[in-house]
Amino acid sequence: YIVPSVRPQQINEYIGQTAVREQLQLSMDAAKMRNESLDHVLLYGPPGLGKTTLSNIVAQEMGVTLRQTSGPVIEKPGDLAAILTRLEPHDVLFIDEIHRLSPIVEEVLYPAMEDFQIDIVIGDGPAAQSVKIDIPPFTLVGATTRAGLLTSPLRDRFGLVQRLEFYSDDELTQIVTRSASILGMHSELTGSQEIARRSRGTPRIANRLLRRVRDYAQVKGDGIITQPIADLALNLLEVDSLGLDKMDRRFLETLIHKFEGGPVGIDSMATALGEERGTIEDVIEPFLVQQGFLVRTSRGRMATSHAYRHLNFEES
Ligand code: ADE
Repeated sequence: YIVPSVRPQQINEYIGQTAVREQLQLSMDAAKMRNESLDHVLLYGPPGLGKTTLSNIVAQEMGVTLRQTSGPVIEKPGDLAAILTRLEPHDVLFIDEIHRLSPIVEEVLYPAMEDFQIDIVIGDGPAAQSVKIDIPPFTLVGATTRAGLLTSPLRDRFGLVQRLEFYSDDELTQIVTRSASILGMHSELTGSQEIARRSRGTPRIANRLLRRVRDYAQVKGDGIITQPIADLALNLLEVDSLGLDKMDRRFLETLIHKFEGGPVGIDSMATALGEERGTIEDVIEPFLVQQGFLVRTSRGRMATSHAYRHLNFEES
């Protein structure tokens, strides 16, 4: 028995990110016509929007194997060389968190991306020699939460640079309905819409909440995902009517209470919350900014009147 995957396997099953999909489709068609490997692709944007899923789909559409790794895992130049020399022509190498590659490993990647060659150093001391070896033409798909974290020589070597956006409520509704049916459940339109509205624009969250609503529907209801069932289940999970979770609210409450709504620097917020700065910048803030709860100014973060109203605070 195979656990059904809610992850789309083919590009025509993929919902949303229309611009990214169309550009990838075009470049993949062109690469196939020329019998070349697809140009290197950089995908960036908040976690959970489908970077890994898209890399799977690219490999599948190109009819090649996907090799998956991540920036922190590749410790030494030799680790990367071992991966690169074992690729088959046109394979897709997916490097998640590519901004976390060490500088010496990045150096190996430059000629690999540009000329499909790597420089290997043989021996050491005065007898050390550098030899160039050819590697198969391949496609690097790099993923990062923020393109600004990449060094510019690395960023410049990607032919396709695509930013993933938060999904609309309509797109998430379609995703929830599709995932429910894959899980063997029926989700009414208004049930899917309730989950979608409260998923922070993020399919990974929508699919996670769907599984919790399914538990609730099976234990407390008759197994059908309706709007009232979704509402009760999500209230239990402390996901509010606009999809803010406990951490989102704690962030805004801290900003309003401890820092009078700002402006306050990110490091002060990180200390007050006991969270890592990176988590705040990559996971918490993008959605709050997109929804108009938070603005980033040159003097620091500020809560908007929308944030005060949503949390029922008086503006000072
Ligand atoms: N599941 C997760 N992300 C998805 C997407 N973009 N389209 C369809 N199903 C998904």
